Amino acid sequence: MPSIPETLRSFVAVIVTGGSSGLGKALIEHTAKLNPAACICNLSRNKPDINLPEHQLRHIACDLEKSSEVVGGAGQVSAWLREAAPAGRVLLINNSGFGSYGKFPAPSLEHQLGMVDLNVRAVVHLTGLLLPGLKTRGGAIMNLASTAAFQPTAYMATYGATKAFLLHWSLALNEELRGTGVRALAVCPGPTATNFSQRAGMQLGSVPDALSMTCDEVVDASFRALAAGRAQVVTGWKNKALVMFSARVPKPLAARGSAVMLKKYRLKQIRPSPP
Ligand SMILES: NC(=O)c1ccc[n+]([C@@H]2O[C@H](COP(=O)([O-])OP(=O)(O)OC[C@H]3O[C@@H](n4cnc5c(N)ncnc54)[C@H](OP(=O)(O)O)[C@@H]3O)[C@@H](O)[C@H]2O)c1
Repeated sequence: MPSIPETLRSFVAVIVTGGSSGLGKALIEHTAKLNPAACICNLSRNKPDINLPEHQLRHIACDLEKSSEVVGGAGQVSAWLREAAPAGRVLLINNSGFGSYGKFPAPSLEHQLGMVDLNVRAVVHLTGLLLPGLKTRGGAIMNLASTAAFQPTAYMATYGATKAFLLHWSLALNEELRGTGVRALAVCPGPTATNFSQRAGMQLGSVPDALSMTCDEVVDASFRALAAGRAQVVTGWKNKALVMFSARVPKPLAARGSAVMLKKYRLKQIRPSPP
């Protein structure tokens, strides 16, 4: 099995969505450290606050909830690839995503539909647009799902369902890609210390620290799984144990369990996402 640095060095270019904070930012920082020669391109609304030269980290400002901006972003990525890294393997990391806590459709139906657009539609759309290039050059696709993908998640109903879609889609895509030189990996983190919970409208401290992982731990587990050629990784032994249990419980019972567990989280006013 190749090491993590060897695996990262096999890609000449890495495309990340949502590199402006949390896991996306950590994915970019680890990539730049493990493969300083890699050209990295980020797509998000805000520019990542990462100290790398423009030739190493290109930022394409785009709102991936909007289909027209996915098309525009993909076009800019393809042009950037032709210029910055005309040949060689490419890693596409579909990371952008958000959740929301509360009874459907709170905080608004528009917010829920935006979540579906970003967590599901944009991933399928961007991957579909970039896949022909990836097949020509070889590469890999990493999709950020969640442990929320393994059971219905009451009070986060839409979020859990978007991640269940992503997990199943990624696993099926990986099978269809056999023999093409491209593969897909579904990454399933549990609670991770990022802006995610606050953006989802949860009180700080809703998730006990003992259950939370750091971004560095999640990125390390993700790159380890990529190096091992796996199709799916659940990060951390506590999350693995939880998923082994919840995936085996009948779905209606798992839904009830999630309702009892997640109801305890107190709702706070959802702050509008930064532009
Ligand atoms: N943290 C957790 O507990 C956890 C657990 C399981 C799975 N995950 C998944 O991990 C991924 C990363 O989340 P995170 O924890 O790192 O959260 P985060 O710190 O809130 O980062 C979310 C990223 O998504 C980007 N994003 C949000 N709306 C966007 C839009 N309309 N267009 C383009 N990009 C957009 C944000 O960039 P801009 O705001 O600059 O656009 C930001 O960089 C998500 O898919 C999430 O579902 C997180």
